[in-house]
Amino acid sequence: MLKSGEKMTLDQLKSECNGCQKCELAKTRTNVVFGVGSEHAKVMFVGEGPGENEDLKGEPFVGRAGQLLDKFLAAIDLDRTMIYIANMVKCRPPKNRDPKPEEQEACIGYLREQVRIIRPKIIVCLGRISAQRLIDPSFKVTVQHGEIYEKNGVKMMGTFHPAALLRNPNNKPAAFEDFIKIRDIISEEQ
Ligand code: URA
Repeated sequence: MLKSGEKMTLDQLKSECNGCQKCELAKTRTNVVFGVGSEHAKVMFVGEGPGENEDLKGEPFVGRAGQLLDKFLAAIDLDRTMIYIANMVKCRPPKNRDPKPEEQEACIGYLREQVRIIRPKIIVCLGRISAQRLIDPSFKVTVQHGEIYEKNGVKMMGTFHPAALLRNPNNKPAAFEDFIKIRDIISEEQ
C-alpha cells in the first residue's frame, strides 16, 4: 500500500495493471501488454493497442510493425533498452479494431502514471489513435507529423504508425525525418 504522495514504481504499476478489469478488453485478452523499456528513457513511444502477436507475448510491437520500428530506432542509434514503448490501451481489441473511446478512457490512467514515473523528454505518438488522444483530437498524421507540441513541460510529436508505413512505404522518408528530429531533441543538453 502506497502512502499519499509516494511515487509508484513501474513494477508496482505493472502488477496493478496485470489484474485490470476496467473494460471489456479484459475478457478477451491473453496477456496485458503493459509496456517495455527503460525507466530512465528520454523518449517514450505510444502506439495504439496490442495486436495478436503482442497479446500472445505480452510485449508491445513484436510483429512486423515492431521490426520496422526497430529499424527506425537503429537508424538513430537507439534500441529498446534505451527507450520506453507503450500503447494507448494495454489489452488487444478483438480483431484489431480501433480501441473504443471508453476503453481508452478506462486505460489512460496507466499511461499517465507511466509518463509520471519515466518523465520522458519527448512522447512520440505512433499513428492517429494516440496522436488524437494525446496531442489534438483533430490530429492529421500526414499533415502534422514531425511537429513539436508541448504539454505539461513534455514535448510531444506524432508520426506515422509503422504498420501504416508497411502499407504505404512512400511515407518512410518523411517518417525518417521525424526520427532525426527525435534524435536531435534527445541529444540536446537537459
Ligand atoms: N500496433 C500498436 O499500435 N501497438 C502494438 O503494440 C503493436 C502493433
